[in-house]
Amino acid sequence: MYLVSATDMLQKAKAGHYAVGQFNINNLEWTKAILETAEELKSPVILGVSEGAAKYMGGYNVVVNMVNGLLKDQNISVPVALHLDHGTFEGVYKALNAGFSSIMFDGSHYGIEENIEKTTQVIKDCHAKGVSVEAEVGAIGGEEDGVVGMGECADPDECKQIADLGVDFLAAGIGNIHGVYPANWAGLSFETLDAIQQKTGIMPLVLHGGSGIPNEMVKKAITLGVSKVNVNTECQLAFAAATREYIEAGKDKVGKGFDPRKVLAPGYQAIKATVKEKMELFGSVGKA
Ligand code: 13P
Repeated sequence: MYLVSATDMLQKAKAGHYAVGQFNINNLEWTKAILETAEELKSPVILGVSEGAAKYMGGYNVVVNMVNGLLKDQNISVPVALHLDHGTFEGVYKALNAGFSSIMFDGSHYGIEENIEKTTQVIKDCHAKGVSVEAEVGAIGGEEDGVVGMGECADPDECKQIADLGVDFLAAGIGNIHGVYPANWAGLSFETLDAIQQKTGIMPLVLHGGSGIPNEMVKKAITLGVSKVNVNTECQLAFAAATREYIEAGKDKVGKGFDPRKVLAPGYQAIKATVKEKMELFGSVGKA
């Protein structure tokens, strides 16, 4: 299977009242664990790559070639999109030229006029290559790659304006934030989500900051039009905890326990378990 745009899988998800997970990748282990789980569960999947993660892995071409290599050598048959997460205007073109199959242009920090102008250009250039486009209205709170948003609720009219430009799916702030939710978090604003869905109709909506939102809230968001849920932090926490356990148990000091393939194995399994749990929650199992 080759990389596909995310448009078709998300339109099917919206019509079928489930969501497809976007799981952010950081390295080979992360990517292989997510793809293997998607294949086992027959679930479509979106691999998210932030600009920081692309840089960490060596660049956009490294990422595209690594993912394409895994699709081929691991005989991955489920639909997989490789998606730039929170792309800047410059980052969009680097990812597009390297062969990403889906792009998020995050113009949420611009005024609505400039967001519209830049998003229009991105849509034109991405669609010319069959690449899907996600846009954002209303900054998602928390910190991601040093970019800090305030966790706004998007204006439903602005969402409609951006949706009408021809984006394929839309991220709208509904009180969600990236990273761990603070104890005093007010929860998702379902009124905002409902108002956005009423204005944007069949447009698949995206829930960022998917880590740590109570399951019942995630399920309700899916019933109100969310077709893509982004998860990053929970995989990171699961990986770190499993790796810590291995080291604290002194297993790296037993025999060849220091072999990186052994050191990284528990974290690998922890990512797989997290991805499985999320795919089951989102309802994408068996939908490939
Ligand atoms: P979390 O790290 O909170 O899961 O958010 C992921 C995300 O929204 C990526 O865009």
